[in-house]
Amino acid sequence: MNKLDTALVTSSLKEAGFSLAESEKEADVVLINTCSVRQHAEQRVLSHLGHLKHIKKSKPNMVVGVIGCMAQRLGAELLGDETIDIVCGPAQIPQITELVTKALQEKKKALAVTEKIRQKAPGEQSKALEEFESFFDSYDKQIPGQAFVRAMRGCNNFCTYCVVPYVRGPEVSRPPAAIIEQIKRLAGEGVKLVTLLGQMVNAYKYNSNGKSYCLADLLNMVSEIEGIEWIRFVTSYPAEEFYNQILKAMADLPKVCNYLHMPAQSGSDKILKAMNRNYTASQYLELLDKARAIVPDIAIAGDFMVGFPGETEEDFQGTVRLVEKARYKNCFVFKYSPRPGTMADKRLQDDIPQEIKRRRNIELLSVQEKISDELSKQFLGKTVKVLVEGLSKKPHLNSFEKKGYPQLVGRTAENWIVVFNGPMDLAGEFAKVKITRTSPLTLFGEMI
Ligand code: 5AD
Ligand code: SF4
Repeated sequence: MNKLDTALVTSSLKEAGFSLAESEKEADVVLINTCSVRQHAEQRVLSHLGHLKHIKKSKPNMVVGVIGCMAQRLGAELLGDETIDIVCGPAQIPQITELVTKALQEKKKALAVTEKIRQKAPGEQSKALEEFESFFDSYDKQIPGQAFVRAMRGCNNFCTYCVVPYVRGPEVSRPPAAIIEQIKRLAGEGVKLVTLLGQMVNAYKYNSNGKSYCLADLLNMVSEIEGIEWIRFVTSYPAEEFYNQILKAMADLPKVCNYLHMPAQSGSDKILKAMNRNYTASQYLELLDKARAIVPDIAIAGDFMVGFPGETEEDFQGTVRLVEKARYKNCFVFKYSPRPGTMADKRLQDDIPQEIKRRRNIELLSVQEKISDELSKQFLGKTVKVLVEGLSKKPHLNSFEKKGYPQLVGRTAENWIVVFNGPMDLAGEFAKVKITRTSPLTLFGEMI
């Protein structure tokens, strides 16, 4: 979601005549797009602001803006910082060019956030956002051949630990016609993979002309677009609603990648209840069984949180058991961090010591690592189709190195990372790679 917002901001500034600077030292304007989901992300922004303060001493005319969820959450409090000139929430991104131009010309501070995010009629804000987003369909593609497309904004779910409903506002689905139009234009620009985005994308619902559209309908419509070859969607909430239809679309439509990211958060029913997640561990596992029955080779990824208030060793062992049973392709594990304004922060004490959170985090990751290792080994000797992203950022050892070619990275439809040597101009194209070596998270091979 944030990567998409950054791309939209970049495009709208480029449209207004700005260009990207090589470094902050050369920039007239520095914008930081922020995330509020964990305290750590916010701390990093604050320390980065300290660094900018230093640069600003020798460049007093430099404009510094904080945009995104942290801007929405802290609003005027951030503007009090002498380094910051612009504070702009996620719903105000359509105003960014105006805010930046004004700040450069008038040297006045500007605050643009939603006053009462929960009370604002969703329609009011979404109209401006919708127009903005539909206009910038040819936004910066950070990875060649791929684009994120928002299916919906906001969230109504109010998991007790989560700040998203407070900073991104209520759930709003975008009109299917706007989404389809946008993807058609992206396909015309060479985009082959679209990833439909939503905090709870499986809840996508739009009523138009007496017809109701759900995510499965959207997947069917996107599948018909010429040029689009792969379609993914993230993130899914474990719920029965629309579930069979979505999985059936995945099974029936060859373009829909067999990949499901469906966070469980915990394997303890007591903790799930305290988190206001509306399912039990066994219901969650039943959903995974159902997914595998409908789409046999589906790759599933999960998110977990350790150290939620009141999480005992027994609760944590419930999470370990769930991970063992779920056989994820990979999962992301986070240490609980209280977010101001959320129910968990207001009502529950952050009573699990940092040291225990750390240990549980490491333990859960190591349980998953063994599973990922087993699953990745099944690819040995097989040939996979990958969409090439570009140069591999991390240099990997590869005994089958093709002389003269750099190391590239790509992903399979199921989202497995594949590293191999090949020509740079393959970025944005498909390639066939024979897997010769594996690690838990990465497959290595030779291009065919
Ligand atoms: N503390 C730690 N992790 C969190 N997440 C969401 N809120 C918090 C929090 N307060 C995690 C969840 C979610 C992922 C995006 O971030 O696991 O799925
Ligand atoms: Fe946050 Fe829960 Fe909504 Fe996901 S579903 S964004 S965790 S409130």
